[in-house]
Amino acid sequence: MEQLTLPENFFFGAAMSGPQTEGGWNVGGKLENLWDTWSMEDIESFYNRVGSYVGNDFMRRYKEDLELLKGLGLNSYRTSIQWSRLLDEDGNINPEGAAWYHELFRASKEAGIEVFVNLYHFDMPTYLFRRGGWQNREVCEAYANYAYKAFCEFGKEIRYWFTFNEPIVEPENRYWHPIWYPQHHSFQEACEVQYNISIAHALAVANYHRAVAEGHMLDDARIGMICNFSPSYTKEDPSEADLEALRMNDGLTNRWWLDLVTKGELPQDVIATLQELGIKLPIRPYDDQVLSSGVVDWIGCNYYQPCRVQAPSRNRDEWGNPLFAEPYVWPERVMNESRGWEIYPKGIYDFGMKCRDEYPDLEWFVSENGIGIEREYLNKDPETQQVQDDYRVDFVRDHLSWIARAINDGAHCVGYHYWGLIDNWSWSNAYKNRYGFIEVDLMENYDRRPKKSAAWLKQVATTHVIA
Ligand code: BG6
Repeated sequence: MEQLTLPENFFFGAAMSGPQTEGGWNVGGKLENLWDTWSMEDIESFYNRVGSYVGNDFMRRYKEDLELLKGLGLNSYRTSIQWSRLLDEDGNINPEGAAWYHELFRASKEAGIEVFVNLYHFDMPTYLFRRGGWQNREVCEAYANYAYKAFCEFGKEIRYWFTFNEPIVEPENRYWHPIWYPQHHSFQEACEVQYNISIAHALAVANYHRAVAEGHMLDDARIGMICNFSPSYTKEDPSEADLEALRMNDGLTNRWWLDLVTKGELPQDVIATLQELGIKLPIRPYDDQVLSSGVVDWIGCNYYQPCRVQAPSRNRDEWGNPLFAEPYVWPERVMNESRGWEIYPKGIYDFGMKCRDEYPDLEWFVSENGIGIEREYLNKDPETQQVQDDYRVDFVRDHLSWIARAINDGAHCVGYHYWGLIDNWSWSNAYKNRYGFIEVDLMENYDRRPKKSAAWLKQVATTHVIA
């Protein structure tokens, strides 16, 4: 059997976010964010009525969690600073919020674990949303100010910085498809938001360079962006219309960000199609110069599922939004039925080859990958009460194997962070699908318990041999 290994100096770790783990939603001067607002206004929208307040108790248990990470042989993890915790409504540092992050980073250092810090994980402070959120250019400037404050505050503690996690998701889930609060369904609004987030990213990167020049950052600091690059595929024998669906789907979700972070510009063919459709982007004079600051040092790729599309059967949806593509059901697909996502480990290899060929200087790592399973408690060993999650081992092994093959074939991939190492709160899905190698027991005060898969993970993380 082919024995695959990962490079020695490989980041092997975990991914999480502030709003999904911290808890303490209204303590220490933390402001309300959109998740808190939605939870208070409409708790029925959350699975089992479990709202944003819960996290996974990380603020109280962070030392224990760092020990768990260390015990599994992991060398790094990513979390996010919550804008609503770090700054007050005047855009100044909230000392209590800053003290929590200083303590977390200190404890991580003490545990010998490198922290990757992301600045935004779908968590707009509500007072800024009420001023228009990402539809308002001033909020982009407020975000750039927040980023600058964070760089200055933690620049000597944190080496690896990221502006956004999955910047496509808010335009899609909040504005285009009525999935998340405020549940609008306007493609025009989604495009405004996507454009303005791109501007906010570029302004933040410019402020990062300012902080570097002013001596606030570590000498080997790096800035990046994390996106959910779902490799896009269509039918094996596509029509012209299928290829057009592929171009726009890939263009809006993948190339948009890849061009921004590697060239400091947006894909012109996509912009042209939007303009032909009458979409008005909030472009200001000299924005090309603003966007040119968007080039980063490296990127993270969150990979859960491929995206398979075909030509749409109609041009507009029920709200009059343009339809570029329809899902294509690949006859051979394998599903994670709990989440409704296709499992296709080779997708990460294809992404690696795309980067190697089209963006050869770009360094990247797998910043999220994982499998969430519903009613996992049914899979417990009756005697030990341990979750028997062999499917998680299969899932991660298959993905790591394709990552190792991609590296062997020239991909510039430098790490792997598993999403949801310790079960956490998943937005409106709350605790429906469990991702962790470590179970969080909601009935027992958030107690942590390793699942069966944890022993396997430890072996791979410590040996880098994909067994
Ligand atoms: C990514 C996000 O999209 O996927 C995470 O960055 C999220 O925040 C993860 O939790 C898994 O998706 P979900 O919807 O099952 O929680």
